Amino acid sequence: MFTNDLLKSKRILITGGGTGIGRAMAERFLQLGATVYICGRRREVVEKTAAELSASIGGTIEGFACDVRYPEDVEPLIEQLWAKGPLDVLVNNAAGNFLARTEELSAHAFEAVIGIVLKGTINMTLACGRRWLAAKNKGVVLNIATTYADTGSAYVVPSAVAKAGVVALMRSLAVEWGGRGIRFVAIAPGAIRTEGAFSRLLPTPALEKMLLDHNPLHRLGTLEEIANLGAFLISDQAGYINGEMVYMDGGEMLAGASTFSLMGRQMPDAAWEMMKPKKK
Ligand code: HXC
Ligand code: NAP
Repeated sequence: MFTNDLLKSKRILITGGGTGIGRAMAERFLQLGATVYICGRRREVVEKTAAELSASIGGTIEGFACDVRYPEDVEPLIEQLWAKGPLDVLVNNAAGNFLARTEELSAHAFEAVIGIVLKGTINMTLACGRRWLAAKNKGVVLNIATTYADTGSAYVVPSAVAKAGVVALMRSLAVEWGGRGIRFVAIAPGAIRTEGAFSRLLPTPALEKMLLDHNPLHRLGTLEEIANLGAFLISDQAGYINGEMVYMDGGEMLAGASTFSLMGRQMPDAAWEMMKPKKK
């Protein structure tokens, strides 16, 4: 679909780039000529991914341990990356989520998800944004949101409120910083099979079937599809797209908001017990 130099000489940081969608984007951006940095809480995961992608594709990719919830983790990483020159693209992809009845959630459960998704995105966006603005550099921020960020969703409420905040941040800064060279885009993906998402949100064939029955295309999205959409949106080819969230969900939202709202209302008590965290 793209020429192999689409992202040549772009320096890109992907949060949560060691697994799932973040890893797939890292792979695609590397193939398209970018220098890629990935971060996550687990150092061994990001380092292994970087080594594997470097061996299979070549190019430059490095993995860093960084917890996006904490500015004291984010600032040193961004400072270290900036020491070699400005980044061109930030991808806010790191997230946390689980399926649960809201009245059963502790304050800590809310904090855990909001910390990663919303505070993490704010921390990273400000750390890069301030540097871009101060030096009058151009930059692009791609946020991986969800289809229910605009509508809300039952049973994934911490994620819904956090992702809504991410989209509000994206749309606000698209206006505030757009004229100063910083472009904001987002993707609202439908379900794409990853270990992280499916183990927490769609752990049984019955839940997966409900989701597929509800989707007009009766299939999941693929890692290739989201990586290619991401590549286009961060590329110069998409230079006039600012403040926009692109739905990539097979038309799921048009068939009725949030599959989780539909699913959760049909789940028996025993299924909810199964979704609870295992005692540590
Ligand atoms: C209720 C839960 C819970 C669950 C955790 N908690 N899982 N409550 N139901 N299933 C509660 C815990 O009891 C605890 O509260 C609090 O949340 C924090 O849990 P910890 O395990 O201590 O937190 P932490 O180690 O920081 O882990 C964060 C996490 C975890 C979000 C809970 O799931 C994680 O690390 N996720 C990262 C990856 C991920 O989630 N990927 C999926 C993204 S998919 P107490 O009060 O007991 O201390 C996505 C969109 C999918 O976002 C859309 C698909 C279509
Ligand atoms: P995933 O593999 O679990 O990815 C989440 C990543 O975030 C992990 O690599 C995780 O690594 C990292 N992470 C979590 N907390 C972090 C923190 N505090 N600091 C830094 N990194 C952290 O799940 P995924 O499915 O690929 O999800 C990727 C993105 O797509 C998320 O934004 C998710 O909301 C979105 N999404 C996914 C789907 C889907 O169906 N898969 C649908 C809609 C939206 P560590 O645990 O090592 O930190």
